[in-house]
Amino acid sequence: MRLPSITAIALVATLGAGIAHAESPKLKQKDTYKVGFAQTESNNPWRIAETRSMQEVAKSCGWNLVYTDAGGSAAKQVADVESMIAQKVDLIVLAPREEKPLIPAVMKAKKAGIPVILIDRNVDQKLAGAGKDYVTFIGSDFIDQGRRAGEWLVKATGGKGKIVELEGTTGSSPANNRKKGFDDLVAKHAGMKVVASQSGDFARDKGRQVMQTLLQAHPDVTAVYAHNDEMAIGAIAALEAAGKKPGQDVIVVSIDGTRDALTAIAAGKMGATVQSSPFFGPVTCDTARKFAKGDQIPAWVKVEDKFYDKSNAQASMADGY
Ligand code: AHR
Repeated sequence: MRLPSITAIALVATLGAGIAHAESPKLKQKDTYKVGFAQTESNNPWRIAETRSMQEVAKSCGWNLVYTDAGGSAAKQVADVESMIAQKVDLIVLAPREEKPLIPAVMKAKKAGIPVILIDRNVDQKLAGAGKDYVTFIGSDFIDQGRRAGEWLVKATGGKGKIVELEGTTGSSPANNRKKGFDDLVAKHAGMKVVASQSGDFARDKGRQVMQTLLQAHPDVTAVYAHNDEMAIGAIAALEAAGKKPGQDVIVVSIDGTRDALTAIAAGKMGATVQSSPFFGPVTCDTARKFAKGDQIPAWVKVEDKFYDKSNAQASMADGY
């Protein structure tokens, strides 16, 4: 596994106004903690980089980490959190696979008096709230990521195109919000149309298969917007297998900033990717320490993301993971 550069590790988190945490469980100030980290799956470089960031920070943050991998199952992730509750961890760090199914896990932790910090993905805001049911959500602005990908595509195509959209995991906050940000932007341009939109579950081979099928119905597609780099790389393989030249016949834009995506941009096969930083370790440690001290924590600790296209992909290769 390649090591990310120092700049990639240094997440920029913009802290807004803090909120009162009157109802949510507290965290005592201690030198060491038993911390549960409930990961969703480990099927792509983004997930592996996120897990590694948490494992690395555990050493310097005084965390004895209880790590679980839900293997792509929301039901297993709920069971993983229940097991952490039974093990009486001090804090649960949860990357909820989907917005709704993880609500019961958050509520059970609250009932057991264990604070939960959500990282990377959020839960349904109509069903649970920061400062009440969990401490805070640390993560990117997924709507803005979709909007930035759309803005780049509008410029790159002169506002014309037949677009295939490869969606992430159905029911997950990045899939819902990356779709909204992109679709809303594209709807403002009469020459652009999303001709098909289907889930590739954030996975490379699923993205390839879905693209292969959609190409049969839409052979005249001119652009692909994938909700993550893994599906974009899969789509590029499907385009090439169909005799098309990605980057020329079909423009590809996506989100994440993986090493493979930066390489594809430098090679001219992919147009651009909006970074979605997976390096949550340092900001999660910092947030937990502040929470234990009694500092006010904002409802959303927002992570700022970079942007890569042919102007900076080669020079930014060390950011990739
Ligand atoms: O929640 C973040 C998304 O989940 C990343 O874009 C994707 O690669 C991962 O699986």
